[in-house]
Amino acid sequence: MSDLSPTDAAKHAAARKAVSYIEDGMKVGLGTGSTAAFMVKCLGERVRNEGLKITGVATSTRTADLAASEGINVVTLDDAKWLNLTIDGADEYDGNLNLIKGGGGALLMEKIVATASDRMIVIADLSKQVETLGAFPLPVEVIPFGWQTTKALIEETLINLDVMGRETSRRMNNDEPFLTDQGNYILDLNLKRIGNARRLSLVLNQVPGVVENGLFIDIADVVIIGMGDGSVETRDITDGSVTHDDAPEPGDDNVFAGIADS
Ligand code: 5RP
Repeated sequence: MSDLSPTDAAKHAAARKAVSYIEDGMKVGLGTGSTAAFMVKCLGERVRNEGLKITGVATSTRTADLAASEGINVVTLDDAKWLNLTIDGADEYDGNLNLIKGGGGALLMEKIVATASDRMIVIADLSKQVETLGAFPLPVEVIPFGWQTTKALIEETLINLDVMGRETSRRMNNDEPFLTDQGNYILDLNLKRIGNARRLSLVLNQVPGVVENGLFIDIADVVIIGMGDGSVETRDITDGSVTHDDAPEPGDDNVFAGIADS
């Protein structure tokens, strides 16, 4: 793991720990993003090395492709119906384990999959921890039809809400609008500070044209925070427990050699 930057080492440590929660026969939601990619690779190692039999449901085509290339059996959510566990990254998490997600544009599938799971484990490094959500621009997935009207309605709605900033922009991919896996646009809401995330989430989803927003309220159960030295802290919001694991001994993690290349 010495070839990983401290940030990647932290992501990898969180991913590795999260994958230890997966048991034979489980149906597992597979998140999207760079931390989730480490998790998919760690899970692929367990599938290949231990013969672990699991069924994965991916939260994006990117993750589905990566999981398939790792030899993980990937099915649709409609096939799986309900999942034991979802493991995913986050752009921000607060002390109640409420999240901002969607930096990678997969918030809709991520929210559907996490909600269809008995348990959601968030994997992150300390840079994602915040006192109050909102410094990371909140992604909102909107239908392309009439998106400028939807954007204007969102901006009008924000006037009456407890937020510090109100700037909104459509996400771009070079010169083209960014398109989600469902063919929708993402509006990024630069709110700086969200006073009442629960209310904001409800109100945003009432605006016609909004498909879903990136606030995950009362969905996550556990956060595993990876550190640059390979140690992890696990906080379980359901029972208030906090545990620490030291970094694995050198040699313990050689099954993950080459993981930084993904
Ligand atoms: C994708 C997400 C990701 O989980 C979030 O953006 C964190 O990504 P990373 O692990 O790369 O920092 O919500 O839609």
